[in-house]
Amino acid sequence: MYQSSSPKRADSRKSRTINGVGVQVEDTQICVVMVGLPARGKSLIAQKATRYCKWLSIDAKVFNVGNYRRHDTPQPTADFFSTGNAEGERMRKAAAEAAIKDMIVWFRGGGQIAFFDATNSTKERRRWIKDCCDKEGIETLYVESKCDDEDLIMSNILEVKTTSPDYQGQDPEEAAKDFRDRIRNYEKVYETIDDNGSENDLTYIKLLNVGKQCIINLIQDYLQSRVVYYLMNLHIKPRSIWLSRHGESEFNLDGKIGGDADLSARGQMYARKLPDLVLESVGDSRPLTVWTSTLKRTISTARFLPPTYNQLQWKALDELDSGVCDCLTYAEIKEQFPEDFQARDDDKYNYRYRGGESYRDVVIRLEPIIMELERSENILIVTHQAVLRCIYAYFMQKSQTESPWMNVPLHTLIKLTPRAYGTQEERYDAKIPAVSTWRGKGSVAKHEDPTEETIILGSKKEIAEAQHVGDKTEVKAPQDEEAVSSTA
Ligand code: ADP
Ligand code: F6P
Ligand code: PEP
Repeated sequence: MYQSSSPKRADSRKSRTINGVGVQVEDTQICVVMVGLPARGKSLIAQKATRYCKWLSIDAKVFNVGNYRRHDTPQPTADFFSTGNAEGERMRKAAAEAAIKDMIVWFRGGGQIAFFDATNSTKERRRWIKDCCDKEGIETLYVESKCDDEDLIMSNILEVKTTSPDYQGQDPEEAAKDFRDRIRNYEKVYETIDDNGSENDLTYIKLLNVGKQCIINLIQDYLQSRVVYYLMNLHIKPRSIWLSRHGESEFNLDGKIGGDADLSARGQMYARKLPDLVLESVGDSRPLTVWTSTLKRTISTARFLPPTYNQLQWKALDELDSGVCDCLTYAEIKEQFPEDFQARDDDKYNYRYRGGESYRDVVIRLEPIIMELERSENILIVTHQAVLRCIYAYFMQKSQTESPWMNVPLHTLIKLTPRAYGTQEERYDAKIPAVSTWRGKGSVAKHEDPTEETIILGSKKEIAEAQHVGDKTEVKAPQDEEAVSSTA
């Protein structure tokens, strides 16, 4: 059944593309309302979905009510959340009102998807949010996370709650106990969505026990269905993702871009060393699944990996298509297409090669890869410079201005491990020399070494935070702006 929460928009639905290319979205604004008891992964889900949207150039933001509440009540005890505590209830309502107010200002400025991150655990609260949004023509999509696995909840509390600013400076055991009591207070008033039919008109998805089961109601449009599909694919099993460029190629030696060249002699050495490098970084004998592009140089690089590793070739992992500039050096491009060369330096993310692609185009074609990565466990991807930058940008939240210029050296294995609220990175240097294919703005040098000013591990700040352990470099996981603190 089609149900519109936004009559103003229902009859004037327009299709539009984001920044002229790629993802088709309805001309809608959506408030994604998180629902659930504390420690059910609401903040984590909201932050991940925000990162995914931003990577796709969808303007998204988390509004975390706990952060607003902390202005006046930085360190409440469980009591504060008790139904009998009128002052606590008043302050929590005030925090929610302040968050809604800011959210609406943000939507009026053109924001597309807001994540209203709080427990929103009563029907009354959910109806109030819907009324506020309806008045503004903003759709509401409720996302409830339900989980009754006591061990998981306790491990969530220990993982993220005892280190929350709510308990800063307090004994972790005491903090965990108080948080348990806080949850008990919420349980007294918690109403799951629609257990008696009174919320049939809401658009919602219920994720039961980390997505083991999903219940979906009244999804209305393309953008809502994208968000729902993404949420359905999330899991929290421990796993890592390994990223490597192919070994050095003959084209890399010549400074030519694109093409389908063979590996150089040193590239072959990297291919032979890759199995050991992977083994060292995996730490045990579990098999990985290997994804390569369809180009010779990535398939060749992966060919000595153990036969127990399943291998899959993806066209979507092929290098950025440089169109008429394919097989040229940067110097030749500058000479033959000077305006294009300048335009690319001016806006590398958006510049589309004549007859080829831009970084923005590559992100759009990588979307199914990201979705599949979210569903999967341990995956090793052997791919190309531009594609790797785009995948890396998704996990490490790199901006569109920064990501196309990142230095991703050849003959280096990158291991990314998702953690609550961030991704941990380790790099393994194969210690096999290779040319640098990194190019600074304005330069046409065939092989230019990145200077200290440029990005070895994403940013200068991260260089400072990187720890070198033998051949391995670890980077502290980046923290989302809102991640340091989560809801209730
Ligand atoms: P909340 O915002 O609901 O209080 P958080 O997002 O702060 O909870 O909790 C994060 C923790 O929840 C992480 O340890 C994460 O592994 C776990 N988690 C993520 N998704 C879920 C889920 N769907 N159900 C239960 N726990 C989850
Ligand atoms: O030089 C290797 C290469 O993978 C080329 O095939 C590709 O065009 C290029 O890197 C992408 O990097 P940039 O966007 O910095 O030119
Ligand atoms: C909080 O105060 O941390 C909070 C999120 O409040 P509620 O979910 O109860 O609005």
